[in-house]
Amino acid sequence: MKQFISSQDAESFQQLIDQALAYKSNPLKDNSLGKGKRMGLLFLNPSMRTRLSTEIAAKNLGMDVIIFNVGQDGWAFEFEDEAIMSGTSVEHVKDAAPILGKYFDVLGIRTFPSLKNKEDDYSELYINQFIKYAGVPVVSLESATLHPLQSLTDLITIQETFKEKRKPKIVLTWAPHVKALPQCVANSFSQWITGWGGADFTIAHPEDYELDTRFTKGASITFNQEEALRNADFVYVKNWSTYSDYGKIYCNDPQWMLTQEKIKLTNHAKIMHCLPVRRNVELSDEILDSKSSIVTQQATNRVWAAQSVLSEILKGI
Ligand code: CP
Repeated sequence: MKQFISSQDAESFQQLIDQALAYKSNPLKDNSLGKGKRMGLLFLNPSMRTRLSTEIAAKNLGMDVIIFNVGQDGWAFEFEDEAIMSGTSVEHVKDAAPILGKYFDVLGIRTFPSLKNKEDDYSELYINQFIKYAGVPVVSLESATLHPLQSLTDLITIQETFKEKRKPKIVLTWAPHVKALPQCVANSFSQWITGWGGADFTIAHPEDYELDTRFTKGASITFNQEEALRNADFVYVKNWSTYSDYGKIYCNDPQWMLTQEKIKLTNHAKIMHCLPVRRNVELSDEILDSKSSIVTQQATNRVWAAQSVLSEILKGI
């Protein structure tokens, strides 16, 4: 594997999932694969799960890891080509990335979207500039539009939880939030679930919250949350801001918060969320604290997803 920024970089979802579960059973089975290799984890935005799980995964494979909080620990980067750098950015990615590519064998990058300019965000300028100038494999730790390590984790969690010989019904439901959030997790989850093809997949959201159709093709889409929840085996709860009229909060109807009452419509559904979660805004305490919630299992699986991906990257260098 040369890079991991989207589901399209995975040759086989099933191979990555099976390998992740094998690492879960035996974390150190390939602990010399990354011997002598160094990974740089660059954060342009905060993180807990992605940062720690990727560090653990890389160390399980025998790699050295250095974490660098761009903008806090170092200079603020400029990403635009031909920028006149008379503002706050100090160092162009064109100058920094080739150096990072000499220091590290693999780079992990976390960026967020601006949520101001859709074209810029959806061009994935930041991560693509690193890919262009670093000259080493780049792993997305969440980009402007996608969060592939999260989605691989989600698929691993669904497969290890669902043991019936039929397709699970999976529902991605929008939830209220206090801030305008990126579409990354929802885009990415849709991309992986539709790409997998092993589920009956429905997305429920209020009007005006349609996602980019490049990621949702193959999903059923409804504005009726209760209808969507009927007989669901998994309910993935996530807020996102508007895509068409980009980055806005149109509706923040608390009626969209998932409650125990709504769960009764499902087939004893397992409840998923990528975390961090705003309790009693996106999801009620009663659900998060119940046996239906598999959010801790999900977050734990971040290690095995990252380890599976890094293992494929290491085999390619
Ligand atoms: N789900 C997720 O990416 O969590 P962090 O923001 O803590 O990394």
